[in-house]
Amino acid sequence: MKLFVDTDAGVDDALALLLALGTPGVELVGVGAVDGNVALPRVVANVFEVLAAAGREAPVYPGADRPLVPEPRERATFFHGEDGLGNLKARRATIRPEATPAALALVELAKKHPGELRVVALGPLTNLALALMLEPRLPELVEGLFVMGGAHAARGNTKRLAAEFNFAADPEAARAVLAAFPKTTLLTWETTLAHPLPWEVHDRLAERFPFYRAITGVTARYLGEKGTAGLLIPDPLAMAAALFPELEREREPTFATVELCGEHARGMLVTGRGPENAEIVLAIDLPGLIARFEAALAHALGG
Ligand code: BDR
Ligand code: CA
Repeated sequence: MKLFVDTDAGVDDALALLLALGTPGVELVGVGAVDGNVALPRVVANVFEVLAAAGREAPVYPGADRPLVPEPRERATFFHGEDGLGNLKARRATIRPEATPAALALVELAKKHPGELRVVALGPLTNLALALMLEPRLPELVEGLFVMGGAHAARGNTKRLAAEFNFAADPEAARAVLAAFPKTTLLTWETTLAHPLPWEVHDRLAERFPFYRAITGVTARYLGEKGTAGLLIPDPLAMAAALFPELEREREPTFATVELCGEHARGMLVTGRGPENAEIVLAIDLPGLIARFEAALAHALGG
């Protein structure tokens, strides 16, 4: 499977990348970086740090450093740490980004591997929206699109109550992407809340894998204080939807778009009657995913 991952490289993005890097048969043909959880240069550095932790290489393409319609950014450092990667103390990666911007790279890779590229978007959709402007045939050129984004019951995780972070960070881009792709698979915030990584599993992984422990500490402390049932793993769940369709238990086809206006609703995912252009993953076999995740971490990180 040929994979292109677009990411704003926070903690759960890093875990999703490790899930892909540690799964046999997955070829990471490129990683696009987009401003989101933290600023773009930090995102790029974080991607290289994850690749270095796994002892792997992949081309990393810097992308958009702002949304299509610039507005004050809401960052997610309370969740991911000031550096976006759990305030990682020792950094060891050499940072060697490609010269090609992420949007152009995605178009070129899609043309190089027509019908083969599976695209997984884990951050704001700015790079994908730009790629669509460069090449409107992009949806026909890729094999599928999997997005972590939206809150299907309008219970978001941002200051705009109805909006999820990735869609709130660039509503115009999210709307353009949903309008252009005939069948986007969406892994939403409510599905994230329904599939926490239980704390006993988190503790076991933290004990076994030092890199996992180093990057998840800030997030685990924050969520522990909030009393969640485990570590929230939105991006690994989206990655799992792309890599392990056999683990899926429930999905709902729907019309989907994004609201662009409103104090509480700008960036909100809107679903309902209309031509079906998205499928929302509602349930995943969590024990099955945990087994694959632990095996992937062992493969990627050793131990
Ligand atoms: C999304 O926002 C980011 O903070 C996470 O990495 C994830 O992609 C969850 O709303
Ligand atoms: Ca993300």
